[in-house]
Amino acid sequence: MKKLAEVYRGKAKTVYATEDPNFLILTFRNDTSSLDGRRVQKFERKGMINNKFNYFIMNKLADVGIPTQIVRLLSDHDVLVKKLAMIPVECVLRNIAAGCMVRRLGIEEGLVLNPPIFDLFLKNDVMHDPIINESYCITFGWASAHHLSRMKQLTYKVNDILSTIFDNAGFILVDFKLEFGLCNGEIVLGDEFSPDVSRVWDKKTLDNMDKDRFRKNLGDVIKAYESLAKRIGVKLD
Ligand code: ATP
Ligand code: TYD
Repeated sequence: MKKLAEVYRGKAKTVYATEDPNFLILTFRNDTSSLDGRRVQKFERKGMINNKFNYFIMNKLADVGIPTQIVRLLSDHDVLVKKLAMIPVECVLRNIAAGCMVRRLGIEEGLVLNPPIFDLFLKNDVMHDPIINESYCITFGWASAHHLSRMKQLTYKVNDILSTIFDNAGFILVDFKLEFGLCNGEIVLGDEFSPDVSRVWDKKTLDNMDKDRFRKNLGDVIKAYESLAKRIGVKLD
């Protein structure tokens, strides 16, 4: 499958059309951004690591029956996916308090959230991805109650599967973001799961193994991504 026209250039990935209108190619670039794209930096190997990381995780999820976009890995940076009609809502699952939740509520980072919290954000860079809830989705037509219920159910299932995978490798899955889309009327997991869209801490040292190393200027961003990938079993080379 060949890359044809560029359909969309996001902050971390570029999306290409293919000969088949049902499929797209996602290209994982080395760009990393924060502050709504105002801070951007390139990290050698990041695109390759995230592409393989995402492919590995989505296959693990598909193995237990979660519908995913993945068709096949094409190269270090490229993956062939089903074209989804993306739902403009981000599903965030939190096992441990961190990030914007801590800032918004003034609670202590590291607090165990039992049961885990499910948050929704509108995908809208201009409005800085505001937090929303199910009621907003329905009123404004961003997602139906039926689709939201499926997205929530799948997000919790992803959490169960991935928490175990990370736990077995010596990590804590703190939180993560998922995006879903529709394919033939079915809710399907799209976009990516990688250290760019999740928080993962080392169980022993509580070191950040994810994009927080970039956000907080901790250094060794790629070293952490690579070590996380290798320890959960992603084959990088
Ligand atoms: P953000 O970082 O806030 O998610 P972005 O648009 O800059 O925004 P990128 O990951 O760089 O994010 O861009 C990838 C784009 O491709 C996203 O808009 C995402 O919703 C879209 N996308 C991901 N998977 C699919 C898919 N299978 N079918 C159609 N579009 C997809
Ligand atoms: P969150 O704490 O809501 O925001 P911030 O990253 O500003 O602290 O993020 C929770 C998790 O979801 C975290 O792992 C990052 C991820 N996430 C994204 O990748 N993109 C997003 O637009 C949002 C809202 C969250």
